[in-house]
Amino acid sequence: MDLSVDLDARGDRVSAIYRALLDAIRAGRLGVGDRLPPSRALARDLGVARNTVATAYERLVAEGLLEARVGAGTYVADLAAPVPAPRRAGSLHPREGWTFRPVPVSGERPVPPHDFRVGIPDASLFPFDTWRRLVAAELRGGAHSPGTYAHPAGLPLLREAIVRSLARSRGVAAAADDVVVTHGTQQALDLVARVLIERGDVVAVEDPGYPFARELFASYGARVVPVRVDAEGIVVEEIPDNARLVFTTPSHQFPLGPPLSLSRRQALLELANRHRIAIIEDDYDSEFRFTERPLETLQAMDRHGRVVYVGTFSKSLLPALRAGYLVAPPSLREALLGARQLADGHGAPAEQAALARFVADGMLARHLRRARATYTERRELVLGGLDRLLGDRLEVVPSAAGLHVTATFRDAGVDDVGVATAALRAGVAVEALSAYAHGPGVPPGLVLGYGAAVTASITPGLRRLARLA
Ligand SMILES: Cc1ncc(COP(=O)(O)O)c(C=O)c1O
Repeated sequence: MDLSVDLDARGDRVSAIYRALLDAIRAGRLGVGDRLPPSRALARDLGVARNTVATAYERLVAEGLLEARVGAGTYVADLAAPVPAPRRAGSLHPREGWTFRPVPVSGERPVPPHDFRVGIPDASLFPFDTWRRLVAAELRGGAHSPGTYAHPAGLPLLREAIVRSLARSRGVAAAADDVVVTHGTQQALDLVARVLIERGDVVAVEDPGYPFARELFASYGARVVPVRVDAEGIVVEEIPDNARLVFTTPSHQFPLGPPLSLSRRQALLELANRHRIAIIEDDYDSEFRFTERPLETLQAMDRHGRVVYVGTFSKSLLPALRAGYLVAPPSLREALLGARQLADGHGAPAEQAALARFVADGMLARHLRRARATYTERRELVLGGLDRLLGDRLEVVPSAAGLHVTATFRDAGVDDVGVATAALRAGVAVEALSAYAHGPGVPPGLVLGYGAAVTASITPGLRRLARLA
């Protein structure tokens, strides 16, 4: 057998032989049904102990790639057969009107040395050991029997923990039955869109705004209408009267940053009530607030049950947890639960129970206190650096919450996509404001996240950016 084994390489001899055999199987030099040399013979050829070869064979037998036939030797097993080549492109196509294609996301791209990507919290702050312990305890025997299906709304324990926490921190007035635990904001938006939107319905979105919301509504056949944003948030008087739904980010307009002013909040609720418009209040990032008194949420101000409040643990904990929730008026409850059951049944009960403990026992509050201190320091470094190093070219949009800041170019002719592309080549990841624009009225600018930015890399990163912008 033609087997090249690098016995001088670092690592043990068993692993070297194991890897060489695996390579030979993968490359097809050893095919299904081929007989391997007896371990004694191969050991003699390689100049190693027989036991070393036998252990490597055993490892491959345990993985199902080799088969030991009693008294007849060791053979390459069926499982080792190469995966068949992909078939032809196919003749199935999405329905007419389906246009959205997946876009690259943060986890698929290399991490640049100066990381100002938007919407990413610092994963190193997350208490992984505590989380592992909580999930393991639930899997061993917790709030839900793992062999059975669960309620589409999510575990009552978690829904209760969420309403208590929201009542305290955001003044949200709700009962546990008003909550549906979701796989993040995106699923919450999907459920609301399923039950509210008919083909051709007008959905008003902020411009600039959150592209995944815009695309989601469009995927249900909505006519998505961009509405201007100014220093007080979405310009309510420009929302069309015939809108079925308005999507808004009142505590930290995404991505510009200002909160929706009190008078606009009142005007939006009045408009919604007058024209029977539904409002989705996306309260992302509100856990990271840098002022004392936040404005009341639309949900808390709403007297007519027109607001669906949406929140996420993607920023306060981790995006990979895929955990979020919606709080809906009772008139939508049954439909939303039905939509959830049709979409994916329900969420993962062990993770939900772990999250319930995490919220109810004060671990979330403790984690947020620590995270806030870190993000405050990073935010100040970003704001100070933008002012000192780029103040002649960029004007920061005032904001009071969140994990990013936005600054617009003083020269409206700047190509912000060009600046962001050149910056990335120089190891500085920032985002162009125009990437979030729907219509033509959005000025050029840069969006800088500081959630994932290593603190010491911030000022050098801004210096580098100043040489390019
Ligand atoms: C405006 C906005 N809402 C919500 C989210 C979070 O989405 P999810 O909960 O689906 O992770 C993000 C993430 O970047 C966001 O920018």
